[in-house]
Amino acid sequence: MIEPTGWDGEECPEPFLKWPGGKRYLADRIVKHFPAAHGRYYEPFVGSAALFFAHRPADAVLADKNAELIACYEQVRDNCEAVIRRLRKLKNSTEDYYRIRAKEPTDGAWRAARLVYLVKLAFNGIYRVNSLTGKFNVPYGDHEGRVVFDPEKLRRASRLLQGSKLLVADFEVALADAGEGDLVYLDPPYTVAHNSNGFLRYNTKLFSWEDQVRLANCAQDLADRGCHVVVSNACHKSIRSLYSSFRVHRIIRSSRMAADNTYRRRIAEYLFVSGSSGEN
Ligand SMILES: C[S@@+](CC[C@H](N)C(=O)[O-])C[C@H]1O[C@@H](n2cnc3c(N)ncnc32)[C@H](O)[C@@H]1O
Repeated sequence: MIEPTGWDGEECPEPFLKWPGGKRYLADRIVKHFPAAHGRYYEPFVGSAALFFAHRPADAVLADKNAELIACYEQVRDNCEAVIRRLRKLKNSTEDYYRIRAKEPTDGAWRAARLVYLVKLAFNGIYRVNSLTGKFNVPYGDHEGRVVFDPEKLRRASRLLQGSKLLVADFEVALADAGEGDLVYLDPPYTVAHNSNGFLRYNTKLFSWEDQVRLANCAQDLADRGCHVVVSNACHKSIRSLYSSFRVHRIIRSSRMAADNTYRRRIAEYLFVSGSSGEN
């Protein structure tokens, strides 16, 4: 059993990327459901790695289907100073944004810097690519004056990533060798069986209902193998029915509507924790 590393007085490194569905603002409430000591930590829908950075495990498997994202983490882990040098050259203006967005660099550090830059300055911090060309297609977010990156944050992330195995993989592949005593945090794109919510409908292209069922079966299998499993998901009866043997918690967050910065609404999410059933 290993315990999370802690930061020896250093500031906690929150994610250096903003990501759709990112858990930065819920991380402290989710981490409370992680055991104090565990084996390897698995996060196969890593996105901005908000939970990884909040929990700071020494030994982790971080995976995602998004190859651009995983390549960025590899560069920050292994080649951080080169990424920082590249980022220092990128200016924040409308013209520079569209010029950089149009580029397709092959150099790893340059590619990683481009992703950090685009996600920071894109409209609403969205990561989205054209479904046919695969090219990043989010317009500039009118963030003139915004500081693009913090070198110290990248360096802290790099240090923490040293003990991590990074994989471009479907979640089932990434979890194949998880075993007794390991901790698995699952945060898939949110989809439900039937809904009229545009965001969830958009996500069904990325993560179908069949994927949700496959994930729930995988989570149950991991729990049966002795893993501690924590799952974030949409608060919907169709999802809840998939996790009948898990303990259920409801987490309330406030959500900003993309089109209106002033309108916020309260949204519930489910957190399923393996071990026992019931609702808190
Ligand atoms: C809701 S986001 C995760 C957000 C993350 N927890 C954070 O705090 O930023 C879901 C992630 O799952 C990835 N994904 C979608 N389908 C996948 C699959 N079948 N296997 C692995 N990753 C997948 C997406 O690329 C996306 O990064």
